[in-house]
Amino acid sequence: MARKTPEQLRSHRWYGVADLRSFGHRSRTKQMGYAEADWRGKPVIGILNTWSDLNPCHQHFRIRAEEVKRGVWQAGGFPLEIPALALPENFMKPTTMLYRNLLAMEVEEIARSQPFDGLVLMGGCDKTTPAMVMGALSMDLPCIFMPAGPMLRGHWNGHTLGSGSDTWKFWDELRAGTITEQDWQGVEDGIARSWGTCMTMGTASTMTAAVEALGLALPGSSSIPAPDSNHARMATACGRRIVEMVWDDQRPSRLLTAASFDNAVRVAMALGGSTNSIVHLIAMARRAGVGLDLDRFDLLSRETPLIANIRPSGQYLMEDFHYAGGLRALMARLGPLLDLECRTVAGVSLGEGIAGARVMNDEVILPLDRALRPEGGVAVLRGNLAPDGAVIKHSAADPRLLRHTGPAVVFDDYNDMAARIDDEALPVTADSVLVLRSAGPIGAPGMPEWGMLPLPKKLLRQGVRDMVRVSDSRMSGTSYGTCVLHVAPESAVGGPLALVRTGDPITLDVAARRISLDVPEAEIAARRAEWTPPPPRFARGFGLLHSQQVRQANEGCDYAVLEGTAPTAEPEIH
Ligand code: FES
Repeated sequence: MARKTPEQLRSHRWYGVADLRSFGHRSRTKQMGYAEADWRGKPVIGILNTWSDLNPCHQHFRIRAEEVKRGVWQAGGFPLEIPALALPENFMKPTTMLYRNLLAMEVEEIARSQPFDGLVLMGGCDKTTPAMVMGALSMDLPCIFMPAGPMLRGHWNGHTLGSGSDTWKFWDELRAGTITEQDWQGVEDGIARSWGTCMTMGTASTMTAAVEALGLALPGSSSIPAPDSNHARMATACGRRIVEMVWDDQRPSRLLTAASFDNAVRVAMALGGSTNSIVHLIAMARRAGVGLDLDRFDLLSRETPLIANIRPSGQYLMEDFHYAGGLRALMARLGPLLDLECRTVAGVSLGEGIAGARVMNDEVILPLDRALRPEGGVAVLRGNLAPDGAVIKHSAADPRLLRHTGPAVVFDDYNDMAARIDDEALPVTADSVLVLRSAGPIGAPGMPEWGMLPLPKKLLRQGVRDMVRVSDSRMSGTSYGTCVLHVAPESAVGGPLALVRTGDPITLDVAARRISLDVPEAEIAARRAEWTPPPPRFARGFGLLHSQQVRQANEGCDYAVLEGTAPTAEPEIH
């Protein structure tokens, strides 16, 4: 492919032609203090920055944006930083997932409506990664993802603390009375002590690794700890590289194939990654015109050993993973399971990008013959309770419960669960199956991470630390337990979860990939005939748009109007 000439740049239509409109574009760029030498004949690079005062994971993005700009200037480009929705995982309610597609839409339309030739996508906190990639895939300009990087390890009283995982663990210990309020305060002080994303193998680290494996981030970039000076240099390298990508017209549609998505899935499975990655990778693939589905996930998961010994499936944290060689070393170890011919934003194949990578610590990145599990951490379940599928992260579950039948204890929604879970009179035992409904893409709305239902206090006091839980919600990637998630169709649209009653037996059999409601079909049909849909939650606004557009979990929860690869015309410039 021949390199572009300056006249072939997309931005030429804004800056390079001799008409009234381009006079306006040039004079207004000069108003910002730039001289013509800053932009003339150069690729215009949009640096999409999801910084906000309320996103602790992206606190370094103001500095990093300057470092990206430095690389763009070095390579002869013209950098322009543009703010985009920050999606702070901890602060947005009911869930950032409600807004993932909004950010995806924002990225696509920011790029379409303005004079950009290429994009650097600055994200990392959970939903920002899939959202930015989804939008960029649809826009199909040369783009490179700059991952935020994980924060440093947490510490308290000699314990190494991991984001999320240890929050849930010590919360249960506090509720069980085995630690004090003062201990709990110490955990709060020590668990998040630098900028960067959660440093367990949660959704953030799973998705940034998946995007690197997909070929959209520089080799080795996703695991660099956020405060490390290597992270700053990586940001500058992103800036340099995107300029070259523009000249070579390396758009995502020229880089990504179905095999690239298989690589991303395999890496997520080998990492023991978050179940959220399933929803996001399916949505991303559908934007790229690749038919990734749940069955493909299950197949690839069965064939891929879990070799990253990282919490919550394993023992270590992202900082350890990076020092052990990071994702390049893990991919080198997976070797033949990956398609190493796939292209990457680095301008080389995946195989060339990992050439020479070595594992420095076999306890963190395990040899294939000592895998944590011989297959990936996630399984896809089906049955009369989830006709369109459900998922379970069995690597983070109590092995005793992976084949289990027990009576349901049903909660109609989150508030019902919160009000009754610790009621001493609740008819629950360690064998019960906790069921939460109205927690899906439409019902909640936004499919929040409520899937790791809290265990009843009375059982915690008895020493119970895991139970089978079933819901149409998601679960944080840092969570653990025997939690059946993403049940589709969801209860709010009449999925079978809507028909379960307390006392009904439910069977989970992970080896057989089965989740079933053990009630006669005639009884289920009778209940269905009586069922009425809940009233609409929104009369207007974004909530109504979401409710009308969102797909179910097995389809990636994208909006119907945003899926696919149908071309969208470039804007007229009048
Ligand atoms: Fe941002 Fe976990 S809260 S990555």
